[in-house]
Amino acid sequence: MNTKNRNGLQVMLGLIGMIKPLLAIMVIAIIMGCVGNLMATFITVFGGYGLLHMLGIYQNMSLTTIFVCIIIFAVLRGILRYAEQASNHYIAFKLLARIRHKVFQALRRLAPAKLDGSEKGNLISIITSDIELLEVFYAHTISPIAIAVITSLVMCIFIGNMNPILGVTAGIFYIIVGAVIPIRNGKKGSKGGAAYRHSFGKLNTVVLDNLYGLEEILQYGQQKERMDSMQKETEELEKTAKKLKKSETVQRITTDEVILAAGIIMTLLSGCLVHAGMLEPYEAVIAVVALFSSFGPTAALSALSNNLNHTLASGNRVLNLLEEEPIVEEVINGTTDCHGTICCDSVTFGYGKEPILNQFDAAFEENKIYGIFGKSGCGKSTLLKLLMRFYETQKGSVRYGDYNVNQIQTSALRKHIAYVTQETFLFHDTIANNIKVAKEDATREEVIEAAKKAAIHDFILSLPNGYDTKLSEMGDSISGGEKQRIGIARAFLHNSKVILLDEPTSNIDSLNEGIILQSLEKERNRKTIILVSHRKSTMGIVDHMNTIQGKNEV
Ligand SMILES: Nc1ncnc2c1ncn2[C@@H]1O[C@H](COP(=O)(O)OP(=O)(O)OP(=O)(O)O)[C@@H](O)[C@H]1O
Ligand SMILES: [Mg+2]
Repeated sequence: MNTKNRNGLQVMLGLIGMIKPLLAIMVIAIIMGCVGNLMATFITVFGGYGLLHMLGIYQNMSLTTIFVCIIIFAVLRGILRYAEQASNHYIAFKLLARIRHKVFQALRRLAPAKLDGSEKGNLISIITSDIELLEVFYAHTISPIAIAVITSLVMCIFIGNMNPILGVTAGIFYIIVGAVIPIRNGKKGSKGGAAYRHSFGKLNTVVLDNLYGLEEILQYGQQKERMDSMQKETEELEKTAKKLKKSETVQRITTDEVILAAGIIMTLLSGCLVHAGMLEPYEAVIAVVALFSSFGPTAALSALSNNLNHTLASGNRVLNLLEEEPIVEEVINGTTDCHGTICCDSVTFGYGKEPILNQFDAAFEENKIYGIFGKSGCGKSTLLKLLMRFYETQKGSVRYGDYNVNQIQTSALRKHIAYVTQETFLFHDTIANNIKVAKEDATREEVIEAAKKAAIHDFILSLPNGYDTKLSEMGDSISGGEKQRIGIARAFLHNSKVILLDEPTSNIDSLNEGIILQSLEKERNRKTIILVSHRKSTMGIVDHMNTIQGKNEV
């Protein structure tokens, strides 16, 4: 797993890098946001001019002009706000679709080794919640930052035009509200945010565990213990949520106080400047009104920092996944010839430092049936995965005829082999479509023939909708043996030269096992079959038996 830790800026740059195709829309959104926010500020500023006009202090604009301007600003403000939000969300959702596409592309590159390991939970959270959180970044982070910077600059110039000292003062307060408070709080809040997410994840795990393990809990009378542990996690979550809310409230109060202080200082300062003859009285009023009414975009940044840490952490994980190098690179321009004897020459392989297979030798000749035998955990399934090139050997080689497995086009290799894994996965689809996974354009006759060979045809016919019966999610509605037989039917339908079967009959009764073994017998003159099994009855059909020594055996 790629675990590079980028700093906030690097993550932001990485995420912004993905915007390139939508950069024009983003720039338009930012411009609309800036103009819209300035309009909102100037509604108040012009209100100030109107008031001063009525008091007879300011006469540079007529009252009508002032009111017409206010109405135009108000209408435009509404339209621009809508357009800005619409463009930001357009960008965010377009990008999310793009990122999901990229993530699935990355997974295709990284699979199957990546999906074989223990990281499935982590991957699910990247695909679902992490990508979802990036919406916040694209729709509610980039443009607010840009808008706050630009509008604050414009306001500094506007106020500074009346008197530079006031312009600089305004600038200082914008920086405090928009940068100092959020950064300070971001640092403090990141721990709270992480703790909250951690607690949330733990509670999720406990709830899921309890749901999946309901039968075991009832059988062994673990209800109370389980209930208590859930209660503990819930309390923990409440505690972290309370802390987080508290720090958010403190931040909001601090921001409001600073804004208030800014108003007071600005008033005092302009009063002094008027007194010193460096500022017109009406300008003093306008400067204070302008400053007071222009904190919207910067204050929004202050609220943003609470989410930003989560978003950046999610962004980091997504970027890591996109940049991860696959354990096994797909061979695209290799040979398509994978006929001949399959040879393992001194194959050494382990998932970690310790080798599982140590200098393993074997030769599987064409059109014969081979058995692989050995204790649980000795590496039988691993050997099949090496034959499929899900992993590469660390030492020694796997060869198909004249070619090393690394020279063979991956797609050709997969076509050449039907691999029935120890756990058959069933899709939420009809039985026919589940079997057809192995050959999408198969006719109904072909599907039925494969099902008959796998001894599952009669069972399928006994279902209310036969081959069109939908399997409910996770395939829980059918038994382990039935699942296995669907997996075997897939292998028969795949119609490849090599069949790898990993414990194909472990859940199947001897009658149905007999039918399957007979079907395999019939293929023996046309196919190379490699069979992993503990069962003597299954091993009865093999021509040759290979035994894998466990790592602790001699
Ligand atoms: N993806 C993986 N990452 C790390 N270790 C793994 C992985 N897959 C298997 N192992 C470990 O490698 C060893 C061999 O696993 P393998 O699945 O090949 O055993 P097996 O001979 O098929 O066992 P069984 O008869 O129980 O199916 C085991 O100790 C297992 O825990
Ligand atoms: Mg196994």
